[in-house]
Amino acid sequence: MNQGLGRPRLRPTSLLFGGDYNPDQWAPAVWAEDVRLMARAGVNSAVVGPFSWSSMEPREGEYRFGWLDDALELLHAHGIGVILSTPTASPPPWFSLAHPDGLTTRADGIRLQHGSRDTYDPASPAYRAAAARIAQVLGERYGRSPALIAWHVHNEYGTVSFGPHVEQAFRAWLHERYGDLDELNRAWHTAFWSQGYSDWSEVMLPGRTQYLDNPTQVLDFRRFSADLLLDCFEDQISILRRESPGVPITTNLILPTWLHYDHWAFASRCDFVAIDHYPDADGIEGAAQVAFGADLARSLGSGSPWLLMEQAATITVRDGKMLPRPSGAYARSSLQHVARGSLGALTFQWRAPYAGAESFHSSMLPHAGEHTRGFRETVGTGAMLTALGDLAAAPEGPTVRPEVAITWDPAAWWAAETRTLPTDDLSFLRTVQGVHRAVWNLGRTVDFVRLDHDLSPYRVVLVPSQIVLAPDQRANLERFARAGGTVVVWYFSGTFDPALHVVPGGYSGALADLLGIRVLELHPLPTGVTVLLTDGGAGSVWAEDLHLVGAEAMARYESGELAGRPAITRRAVGAGVAHYISTELDDASLQRVLEPILLDAGCGPDAEGAGDGVEVVRRYAGDEEYLVCINHTAATRTVECRGTDLLTGYVFDGPVTLLAGATLVLRQA
Ligand code: GAL
Repeated sequence: MNQGLGRPRLRPTSLLFGGDYNPDQWAPAVWAEDVRLMARAGVNSAVVGPFSWSSMEPREGEYRFGWLDDALELLHAHGIGVILSTPTASPPPWFSLAHPDGLTTRADGIRLQHGSRDTYDPASPAYRAAAARIAQVLGERYGRSPALIAWHVHNEYGTVSFGPHVEQAFRAWLHERYGDLDELNRAWHTAFWSQGYSDWSEVMLPGRTQYLDNPTQVLDFRRFSADLLLDCFEDQISILRRESPGVPITTNLILPTWLHYDHWAFASRCDFVAIDHYPDADGIEGAAQVAFGADLARSLGSGSPWLLMEQAATITVRDGKMLPRPSGAYARSSLQHVARGSLGALTFQWRAPYAGAESFHSSMLPHAGEHTRGFRETVGTGAMLTALGDLAAAPEGPTVRPEVAITWDPAAWWAAETRTLPTDDLSFLRTVQGVHRAVWNLGRTVDFVRLDHDLSPYRVVLVPSQIVLAPDQRANLERFARAGGTVVVWYFSGTFDPALHVVPGGYSGALADLLGIRVLELHPLPTGVTVLLTDGGAGSVWAEDLHLVGAEAMARYESGELAGRPAITRRAVGAGVAHYISTELDDASLQRVLEPILLDAGCGPDAEGAGDGVEVVRRYAGDEEYLVCINHTAATRTVECRGTDLLTGYVFDGPVTLLAGATLVLRQA
């Protein structure tokens, strides 16, 4: 993965704190106030220029960099490292006017107009050339600047287009994948509804059609679009590598719902993984979401240090409403990210703009200025991160070493979003996040994996929503179980092969032998309907008629038309064990089922008292080991732990009382 030998590393000497900074949007008098207040807040890094293309290149080939030279010099003089962005997410007006075919085309064929951002066509030769040119010019000019600590390419790759350039590129991609049309016709099962192709020029994009589209064509288009965005990223990586040797390169992956790319593939090209994460809640639910995003970010980089590039500070925008976050939430979520391997906590954005489309989005310095709760919390968060600077050291191995893994596979997500499944209520993200939340509430840390990764570092592998499964992935999972691992599989996983054909022999067919079951009939539940289980649990969304072929029933359906049939099963496999859960359990039921499974596998909580809203993470940095404790609940809680408090030097040995909202970082002996 991205730990490749010889790759440039981001090696800050203290945790990074700062945010997006757009000097081209402000008069120089404001810059002076910015650096004064950044110093007060402990800001040591700034992401500069993500959308500044027209300020850098106001006319094609005519560059204006005086402002950027001055800004970098000023920041550097104040000890603020620059993460310099290429501005290619927002082409300027001259580009759109000269190259209308470089604008985005929607699935219904309508070409979008200039006027916002992210309006480009990733397959347009003109766009690719213009993006490469500005990256080249930036690389030449700033690639060796002492102000530069890293490159940030583009911003949140994710534009999907249905224009003619994309169509051509899609055909070429399919040609490469399938070799000949017979193979494409087989994979897409084009005999259905008269879709057989007899010439490559007939193969079209899955645009807006009369009725249901071909699910394999849709899945392939998502695979292709992800590869196309990766090509755009690689264009710029190769330029910056050449012009700026030794400076690490990344791009910000927006989590969790942005699924236009394959996170693993993008991460493998980054020198360090960077994410943006805006949870849609605060409190315990929000904390669980932060933990989820942070665990995913760390896992994408094989456990190596990564960076939170954007989060909301003390206000956030949810469902179109600007909402204040509770006091302390900014500091706590910053610490959560660091606990789970981030090299710091950056924020969108430094200063609240007085105009433009995002004047009311998050900022570290609110409109009302420095004498505000918002800025006080920025200063407090900066002070906390400064005091925890030792956690910036690179560890020998991974930053966190979980024993539990959850599968995360973009192909499974894309497949779950096709429109031809037995129920529209299936949700990859809801199911995977629900499983993560359950394990988080049980006080264990988690990695994410793909089933073709090495599973040997884990005791338990949880497989929710893996509805597409390749034969080598199935074999890897079975090997893991036989060697003593514990596997838990959720309903419908293993139902399709990578071409989205149902594996013969009943549902979850690819995993049926491993699990010792046959799923003969699916019973998706009407929205809002719950089934009860004999272990006291409750499920919704899904149920199925499950027959035992070697497995034993751990719980049965108690209500509904499946009453008496098995619902949760267990089968010994070699030295390990494989469980199956055939419905979507609610949080409490899922925790009740998972707790004994984790304990049987030898996975205890990270500290006694961890769980139920109290987060405890064992974090590695340099040669040291730290215990990070955060009480997200509204009650006083106790955690059994020992070590030296990094903030006060006090040595704890035994139960520690954490007031509501309190945090503690202990260096282990
Ligand atoms: C992010 C994006 C930023 C800004 C922010 C607004 O996802 O990268 O540029 O738009 O959202 O909250």
